[in-house]
Amino acid sequence: MQEQKRIGILTSGGDCAGLNAAIRAVVCRAVGSYGWKVLGIRQATMGLMNSPPDFIPLEIDTVEELLITGGTFLGTTNTGDPFAYPMPDGSTRDRSSEIIAGYHQLGLDALIVIGGDGSMDIVRKIAQKGGMNLVAIPKTIDNDVGSTERSIGFDTAVNIATESLDRLHFTAASHNRVMILEVMGRDAGHIAISAGIAGGAHIILIPEIPYNLDSICEKIHERQESGKNYSLVIVSEAVKTENGETIKNINRLGQTRFGGIGHYLADKICACSGAETRVTVLGHIQRGGTPSPLDRLTGSVFGVAAVDLIAEGKYDCMVSWQNRQVVSVPIPEAIGKYSTVDPDGMLVKTARGLGICLGN
Ligand code: F6P
Repeated sequence: MQEQKRIGILTSGGDCAGLNAAIRAVVCRAVGSYGWKVLGIRQATMGLMNSPPDFIPLEIDTVEELLITGGTFLGTTNTGDPFAYPMPDGSTRDRSSEIIAGYHQLGLDALIVIGGDGSMDIVRKIAQKGGMNLVAIPKTIDNDVGSTERSIGFDTAVNIATESLDRLHFTAASHNRVMILEVMGRDAGHIAISAGIAGGAHIILIPEIPYNLDSICEKIHERQESGKNYSLVIVSEAVKTENGETIKNINRLGQTRFGGIGHYLADKICACSGAETRVTVLGHIQRGGTPSPLDRLTGSVFGVAAVDLIAEGKYDCMVSWQNRQVVSVPIPEAIGKYSTVDPDGMLVKTARGLGICLGN
């Protein structure tokens, strides 16, 4: 019989579909199989920073309905680095010790963080400093966490982007237009290449493959000459301008966010091909809504596996999907090996084999 443990769980960084499925799985396994207590920490590490810590005890009844819901029921944030936390007077303060104090005050034996590489990196540093036992579950629609083939949220985002291309297809054909769909992916083009192939895009632009406008326009002309007076372009938000600049916006809070490459390309494509162009920026639609079956499955597999790692006393590890198995990898390995689209990999070869233009 295992000693009764008390574990915390939090979601950190941008939300995505499938987070609640993972929270539910953690509770089912920890409470249902091991008889442990699970505390849901609210608003990422901010819940531990608060005094008293902001948490909710999680029971199987509380999480039963979560499987099919979007977002994160615990709340999250992707701003406010605890090591340089923005204070109301404009200064920044290292508040990592408050998070450590919150962990110990709650009497936690371990903490599960569901996050992307940035969140894992920060929470790991805090855990190392404060003697916290950490297990991580990868999530991000960008699918760029290293050492795992799958992260929670990616599949739903690809589904949404694919469905958007399906919808754009007919309106593009009806009006003889070039439709440009700008999708997320801060540093990697996984969403664009997957949805582009699945949704029948004629041109796919990803940050891993530099493009030139002549190739894009040539593809559009070729199609026009063969009687196809419309084209579908999918572009990842991280694709740069011809001069190598990333199009970013800084908002009033000083936050830098990608977005705008779709409109930049629309103007250039219109100039070189004469085609009428329209742009759809998919934005946070990709992160919301009901999780796809695969994201529910991934969240469930990862949640159960994360609890089992704690039962085995294996910490500083991330659960990972590899070759149809769930395994564990050291967190430093996962965050040290950023996963981008391989320009010589299967999906790029497939796209080229289908005659899709990749901009070069
Ligand atoms: O990392 C996930 C992600 O959705 C990126 O694809 C995107 O650039 C960014 O987060 C958007 O962040 P925010 O929700 O702060 O606008």
